[in-house]
Order: sequence, then structure tokens, then C-alpha cells
Amino acid sequence: MPAVEIKPDMYWVGVNDRTTDLFEGLWPISREGVSINSYLIRDEKTAIIDLAKAIKTDDFFAQIAELTSLRAIDYAVINHVEPDHTGVLRILMEMAPDITIVCTKKAADLLEAYYGLRENMMIVGEGDTLCLGKRTLHFVMTPFVHWPETMMTYEPSEGVLFSCDGFGGFGALQGAIFDDQCEDQSFYESESLRYFVNIVAKFRISVRKAIDRLDDVDVRMIAPSHGLIWRKHPERIIELYRDWCNYPDTPGDLAATLIYGSMYGNTETLMNAVAQGLAAEDIGVEIFDCARVHASYILPSLWTRRGVMIGAPTYEGTVFPPVGEVVREAAMKGIKHRQMAMFGSYGWGGGALRDLQKITDPMKWILTGSLAIKGGANRENITQAETFGREFGRALKAV
Ligand code: FEO
Repeated sequence: MPAVEIKPDMYWVGVNDRTTDLFEGLWPISREGVSINSYLIRDEKTAIIDLAKAIKTDDFFAQIAELTSLRAIDYAVINHVEPDHTGVLRILMEMAPDITIVCTKKAADLLEAYYGLRENMMIVGEGDTLCLGKRTLHFVMTPFVHWPETMMTYEPSEGVLFSCDGFGGFGALQGAIFDDQCEDQSFYESESLRYFVNIVAKFRISVRKAIDRLDDVDVRMIAPSHGLIWRKHPERIIELYRDWCNYPDTPGDLAATLIYGSMYGNTETLMNAVAQGLAAEDIGVEIFDCARVHASYILPSLWTRRGVMIGAPTYEGTVFPPVGEVVREAAMKGIKHRQMAMFGSYGWGGGALRDLQKITDPMKWILTGSLAIKGGANRENITQAETFGREFGRALKAV
């Protein structure tokens, strides 16, 4: 994509990545893609704010070259060192050897660790500014949004917040780069939630602190490093992120996530009956087969919904591994205070439900009931499972 002027003499440049399969080598984005947004400001001095991953580097530098000579860039503001934003840094340093890198002290340590860089650094802290001419950049320390060295950069004359990972989302840009231009904003909102839960939810307290600090800041445009630029309704993505930060402190939305796995269809048979019971109580339910759906897509549902119904057979005396893995990832992301129930089939001896409870106890998930059956599900078991689903639905409504 060619560069886009987002404000006078401020430009979006970046990599619109549709070929990486796993973000951070972990989270699937084959279908959705991701954008890595970088911004160039032309003034008496020229600054580039955040860079890009080391892919499609020819395109990235060609975009910049349309706007300015690379040697003419005075400053590279590094809000965050993670290599999706700094992968091209060595190449940039070769092409613009006099450039000054502007970053926090912790970022400087990491730049040395990742790239061996030690020179041409301008270390900034909370409240520091950098005058480019007509425009002045203000630096806001936002540690752990997403790594400890992270900061955001604010340009007050236009009210633009370059928020890096904060307010970011998965989803390659589809021609439109602004919220008011895109045809399907709900796609970006849902991919922002997935990004939030997958990438920054672990640090939600720090993210919330950063958001609270914006209450007194005149933000007229959110220019993150991933996803849409929010120029018409910047408050929309701020409020979404604020709500998402708060979920573990709330009972969650009155709805359920049903995660399950099944080896020979017996737990699946129970699962369908349990889901019918939930539906009969008017509880919305999202169903995920953990052996087939990546946890990346399941975690947002677990983050936001009140009820977690878990179906898992016993496998070698423990919980069916794909189900256990999703629950462990939920624990790692800090998904807390959920209502849960468990069911499953076993052969010669149980163990799945006992094993699951060991994982969920530290998460303060409240167990409302469990149902284990030996072998295949008969008519009586199916009726039991439907009743089990209904009872769980009623328990969710009572919270
Ligand atoms: Fe987009 Fe934490 O890197």
C-alpha cells in the first residue's frame, strides 16, 4: 500500500502482512492478517515513529522514499522494541547512519540485546518532549503495554496518540486505514478483542492505568501500530479496551462458553445435550472443539462470558490434552472469577474432571457441578446431560 497522509505532513507507512501464519510464532493470523503501522512526520526535522517487522522491507523503504530521503530522517522513535516493530532497524541504521533513536532507558537495554545498538540514542522519560519544528512530540511512559520498556508518543497540535500495541488489533488493512472508511468495523473490533486477549491481557492492569491517564488528554486520533487508525471515534476503541481490561473483575456477560474434546463421540453426545439445556434456559453458548480450534479464538469467549462449561474425556488418567491445554492458556492469561461445570466420559477409570479442577482452582473459577459417565452415553445419560446444562444455565442467571 502507498503511504497515506493522516494529518498534514503526517503519514501512515507500514507493512500490511497477509503472509505470516502465526503472530509471535504462536497466534494464527493466516485468514485475518495483521498490519504493522509506522508513521512518518515531516517538519523542520523528520521523525519516523515505530518501524516494521523485517518482511517486505523493499516495500516499506520504498513507501518512505516517496516521502523523504532515508538519510534525511533525523529521529526514529521506538515506542516498543518487540521485533514486529523494530525488525528493519539494522537496515534503517545502515541507510540513515546519522539517525537518532529516541526511546526509554529500558528500550535502549533491549535494543542493545536484540540488535547490538549502543550509539546515537536519545533516552526519554515521562513528560519529555522533542521539538521537530512546528510540531512537538510528547512521550508518555506506559510500561507493560506490552513490554516493560513501552511508551506512547503524543502530538498535541493534532491530538494524535501513537499508541503502538495499545488499542491495536489483528486484521490486515483492506484498503481503508481509518475507522470511518472501513466497510466492516465489527471485524476489526472482534480482531482487536482477540489481539487484546492473546497479546496484552496478561498486562491488563498496566493497560488500564495507561487508559486512565488518557482521561485528561485531548486525543482526537488513535494511531496504533496494528489495525485501524481511529480518527472519527477514537473514544470507541478506548472504551472497548477499558471494558476488556475490567472483565476479570466482573462476573462476565450472561452467556456461556462450551469447550470440549471427544475421542469417540461420547463426550460430544453429552455436549450436544448440555448445549440444548443451556439454550432451553435462554443462555447464549459458543461451542469450541479444542482439538480443532486454536486457543487464540477460544480465549476471547472465555475472557468475556460468565459461564465455562468444559467437556473432556479421560485420557491416560488425565484430562483430554487439547482441553487441558486451552484451560491452562486461560489461566496464563489471567481469566478469573468464572462459573464452571464439567462433564465427560471415561473408560476404565476417571481422572479428567479431577485433573481439570487442579488447573482451575487457582483461577477462582467456581465449580457448580460435574457429570462423569462410564463408556457410551445412553438415553438416560443424555437426559441427565440436558438437565445438567439447564441447571448450569440457572446458576449463571443467579449470579
Ligand atoms: Fe506489536 Fe508487542 O509488539
